[in-house]
Amino acid sequence: MAALKIPYVAMVGNHDRRDACLDRLRSAPRDQNGFVQGTRTTEHGLFVFLDTLDETSHAGEMCGKRLGWLASTLAAAPADMPFVVFMHHPPFPVGVLAMDEIALKQSAEFAEVIAPYRSRIRHLFFGHVHRPIFGSYGKTPFSTLRGTNHQVWFELNANAPHLASHEPPAYGVVLIDDENLVVHSHDFLDQSPRFPFAAPAGIGDRDYALNFLAR
Ligand SMILES: [Fe+2]
Repeated sequence: MAALKIPYVAMVGNHDRRDACLDRLRSAPRDQNGFVQGTRTTEHGLFVFLDTLDETSHAGEMCGKRLGWLASTLAAAPADMPFVVFMHHPPFPVGVLAMDEIALKQSAEFAEVIAPYRSRIRHLFFGHVHRPIFGSYGKTPFSTLRGTNHQVWFELNANAPHLASHEPPAYGVVLIDDENLVVHSHDFLDQSPRFPFAAPAGIGDRDYALNFLAR
């Protein structure tokens, strides 16, 4: 991580150990109860980082202490300050049963804590699902992206076997200003051919794009 030249915040997921993260990663936030939670004030809102780790399970947990920290953090922010929330586990089902079974256990309690602030949450980011999924959680826009290691195969049939896969890994880049928040997913290991937008003279654009390799 030391090679990364941009400011970053380390968070915990279900495979992590909280003490190791806090001991080794100076960028890991720490709340007054020793959870890996914190905030960063930015010119486009307060970024809120949550700890949903249960070291005894792959499912997510937000205990009373963590929810209490979230409630007081949101309450303490200036009334006109927007929020962007980051957490490892999704706080609602995404439709892939194997992952929904290990989502955040306290989904109702989490929803209750953020309810008064919904209109100020510009975006919710989570991980855990290892799939690109976008939508809205209530009226709150959310995104989750592929993993940088393995992926979870697309399967909406609850009775089908749920599989991991080696679909391409990706990372996300978010462009944010006062008006918009734009999420890019980048398949950084992709090796497919790249070619200029414009076709050479005399070749139809569609034929050019479809048959670029054959030329
Ligand atoms: Fe996870």
